[in-house]
Amino acid sequence: MNLAGKKILLIISGGIAAYKALELIRLIQKSGGAVTAVLTDSAKHFVTPLSVQALSGNKVFTDLFSLTDESEMGHIELSRSADLIAVVPASANILAKMAAGICDDLATTLLLATDKRILAAPAMNVRMWEHEATVANQKILAQRGVILLPPDEGPMACGEFGYGRLPDPEVMLAAIAQALGAAGPLSGLRAIVTSGPTHEPIDPVRYLANRSSGRQGHAIAAALASLGARVTLITGPVTIPDPPGLATIHIETAAEMAAAVNAALPAAIAICAAAVADWRAQNTADQKIKKSGATPSLTLTENPDILKTLSAPGPNRPRLVIGFAAETENLLENATAKRARKNCDWLLANNVSTPGIMGGADNEILLITAEGAEAWPKMSKKDLAKKLAERIASKKELLF
Ligand code: C5P
Repeated sequence: MNLAGKKILLIISGGIAAYKALELIRLIQKSGGAVTAVLTDSAKHFVTPLSVQALSGNKVFTDLFSLTDESEMGHIELSRSADLIAVVPASANILAKMAAGICDDLATTLLLATDKRILAAPAMNVRMWEHEATVANQKILAQRGVILLPPDEGPMACGEFGYGRLPDPEVMLAAIAQALGAAGPLSGLRAIVTSGPTHEPIDPVRYLANRSSGRQGHAIAAALASLGARVTLITGPVTIPDPPGLATIHIETAAEMAAAVNAALPAAIAICAAAVADWRAQNTADQKIKKSGATPSLTLTENPDILKTLSAPGPNRPRLVIGFAAETENLLENATAKRARKNCDWLLANNVSTPGIMGGADNEILLITAEGAEAWPKMSKKDLAKKLAERIASKKELLF
């Protein structure tokens, strides 16, 4: 991991996991990065400013109204001079304040005043993590581009078991490096990637879905981020983990995906890898539909076409829009027609009747652009993502 020259403003909030922030400081420094730390009042009950200062080698800030600190470096400057703000651990309280825009101490004021990327690693009791209020706050923050590093599952200090443990410092370091985009060829560019299936409810327990695993879309999001792009991944329900170091928004339906994509604009690059359901149930039952002897009929209505909407000319059109075409026959012909119909720049067509493509680890595609079609050999979805990200980076004239 190379963080040479990178400045990280580390906000430590109050939680039993705060001790892991000390190890993180050491790891960041070992990778060449510099840490300036800010402690909330409650953090001081778990780690001391002295130990943080000794490890970071830099002055530790704790007080919003300190006359001496303000004269040396104002709080706005503190939040702007960093390359990234990392909140480790992020308590339920600080997440709630961030979501609401409350700024009643130095840490939350910095978080509101900053124009830099924020990565937060939440750690708390599993019930607090799963509380509706915290879930709503997670959604708000992810939508604003805050990178939330999901907590691990395991035994907790409070004696309970579940999600809420702070990830290991090595995992947090990797996410920080990823988020910093370590000055890759795509740094400075925003990208939106859709991934996974969508679930279209029929009643409270049933839904329409498809076999998409999200593997291809997630790998593309990670590959773009590793070349420095600032990626927002918008995904339907999948069982694979969020890629570290990028903002991931979880949605269920096509309508929610369309709204999240719209809210994430503007972006230079948009890649629609999601297998969006083309239709949803026209009417969703509020209660579970009971067997009544007669066979019920299901009336469908069309979902918004996210790719087509994104590709339509307008001030917010990403400069490079890429779609996928999952076909079962006449691949080249159908995909070429789809590219024209959707108005996207590139189209990756794959034959999903080949066993193991949909939901599997490998993919085999035809890349269709204005110049024509190019067959890529079968490779892992990860390698395909890397090749695609590199191809995008090589087309600078399309992006800037
Ligand atoms: O029309 P079809 O579903 O075959 O098109 C596939 C491409 O369009 C994929 O890139 C998919 O992500 C995108 N799509 C979309 N919104 C829809 C349907 C498909 O973005 N409602």
